[in-house]
Amino acid sequence: MVKKSALSPLDPSSFSRPELVKVTSIGLNLNVNFDKKVLSGTAELGVERVDKSINEIILDSLKLNIASIYDVQTKKPLKYELGEPLAEYGSKLTVQLPESDKCGCNYKIGIDYETSPEATGLQWLSPKATCGKKHPFLFSQFQPTHARSVIPCQDTPGVKTPYTATISAPQEFTVLMSAIRDGTKQMHGGKLSHFVQKVPMPSYLIALAVGDLESREIGPRSHVWSEREIIEECAYEFANTEHQLKTAEDLCGPYVWGIYDLLVLPPSFPYGGMENPCLTFVTPTLLAGDRSLANVIAHEIAHSWTGNLVTNRNFEHFWLNEGFTVFIERKIKGRLESPQSQDFDAYTHVTELAETINLMGKTSPLTNLVVKLDDVHPDDAFSIVPYEKGQTFLRYLETVVGGPADMEEFLRTYFWKYKYQSIDTDEFKKYFEEYFKDKPAIKEIDWQTWLYTPGMPIVIPEYDKTLVVACDEFIDKFVNWSGEGQMPVGDQDKEKLSTFQVIYILQKISEKPAQNIEKLKSLNALFDLDNVKNSEIKFRWLRICLKAHWEEKVDTVLSWINIVGRMKFVRPLYRDLYSWEKMRSRAIDNFKANRQGMMHVSAYTLAKDLHIDE
Ligand code: BES
Ligand code: ZN
Repeated sequence: MVKKSALSPLDPSSFSRPELVKVTSIGLNLNVNFDKKVLSGTAELGVERVDKSINEIILDSLKLNIASIYDVQTKKPLKYELGEPLAEYGSKLTVQLPESDKCGCNYKIGIDYETSPEATGLQWLSPKATCGKKHPFLFSQFQPTHARSVIPCQDTPGVKTPYTATISAPQEFTVLMSAIRDGTKQMHGGKLSHFVQKVPMPSYLIALAVGDLESREIGPRSHVWSEREIIEECAYEFANTEHQLKTAEDLCGPYVWGIYDLLVLPPSFPYGGMENPCLTFVTPTLLAGDRSLANVIAHEIAHSWTGNLVTNRNFEHFWLNEGFTVFIERKIKGRLESPQSQDFDAYTHVTELAETINLMGKTSPLTNLVVKLDDVHPDDAFSIVPYEKGQTFLRYLETVVGGPADMEEFLRTYFWKYKYQSIDTDEFKKYFEEYFKDKPAIKEIDWQTWLYTPGMPIVIPEYDKTLVVACDEFIDKFVNWSGEGQMPVGDQDKEKLSTFQVIYILQKISEKPAQNIEKLKSLNALFDLDNVKNSEIKFRWLRICLKAHWEEKVDTVLSWINIVGRMKFVRPLYRDLYSWEKMRSRAIDNFKANRQGMMHVSAYTLAKDLHIDE
């Protein structure tokens, strides 16, 4: 049995030792085989010895089938050893480098290999899981540690490299990657697609999608890609992308990635969005029909600086990625809508944060801003804590240093100073303290408690509550209503509410004790909740129904979670079914019947949520 101590001292989720010998470039040449559900071909890795006394490089790999490893220049085979697999981390792959006196210290090694059909970073969809129903679909999701199931690499965000790729796929498919498209070539029996990503980036940002795709231009540097059936809807929904990009540049500095495209995936995509450079991946559950869920795009755009340009050194410092991103996302919203709606978002998420921390346990070390991942896989540590506690901390820091203008100026210099690098929390702290050394107020910051203690943030900033007031009135009237006579809220109240306010109202009602079903029927009638398209509303409505043990709604819940894979929705709904004793076995049976079609990360985390150990 491999010990976890075999993992890297710089990144507890990786075997690699980039401080000794590191990968400096990645070149992929892969063939997509939908029948076998494998990618096969070659990865060429540029290698640099940092410690000249070391003659081997350590890579991560997960279920890869390695055929041979060789020196690209001489074609001579290199000795390698593939270690025993360690649960979700995979196997340590140690490759002996060529004799150093012959070729200096920089090498290119070639690895011929193929992926397993169970690669945790890939989802192979059958035609029936697509809109078109004719062609299969393939997409990747590498963050946090699944790149190693597709590419033998140093799978740690501490290592950043440029990459190129040539992907061969059958003729009828479009191939997209998190890179600049560099042309296609017809070949007999298929086509080759070329990609170049010159900006150095971590392995978790390499991304691939292959499907029957269309595109529409939505801005001077943006296209949206999706299956034909929904392309117009996507082009409408994301029409504000360029405004969001410009606002982000105004806040953060130059956008270095050239292109900003969007890819709308089939519904089984496990996240809301993923900031793959040049090509953000998003869930189709953002298609509300009224552009109301576009904050997810603002979020992924913000990652172009926070995460993609300046990257967390390992996932213990994930808040440097996500907390900063939420902070910028809300600033974009503030500028494009209003400061009130920026604060509304921040304020309403405090209650979600409190709910999450309660669920995780107020003393859980995973509710620290900086976490220890020695014994926890990043997929198990994932929660909104780094997002919301992180943004709360930054907002607090902003008030300490004198407000948005000072903080934003600081952020621009921070992004530029650390661009193309990976850093940890200490480096951020050091730079912040240096930058603001003339502000005496920064001495009050209790970094230790903010960063390294569990529970709710120690300061909740004063947010503007203008938009909350109307919601709270609505909630009070509804919750205190006995259910007799007419509902005390009606069309007049509804007309004043934005989509986000409706979402918040439902969120709050879902946190209250179960409501009686007759009351819920009136609420349903007011907002037409049974037919709502907005997934954030639908999700909260279904949670309210489950809490009320409204049996009729269980079928609706199951049919939704059997199509939609977004874990933000699916996990709480499964948890709700599980905690309703009468439905527990139905939930488990439904999961077992459907897990085969789920992406690894969803099946893996749901199995834990449902206490299924196999
Ligand atoms: N990078 C994350 C998604 C992610 C995190 C994938 C960790 C795998 C591991 C992405 O930027 C994200 O945070 N998405 C959110 C968007 C929301 C906060 C606006 C989501 O998926 O819901
Ligand atoms: Zn994010």
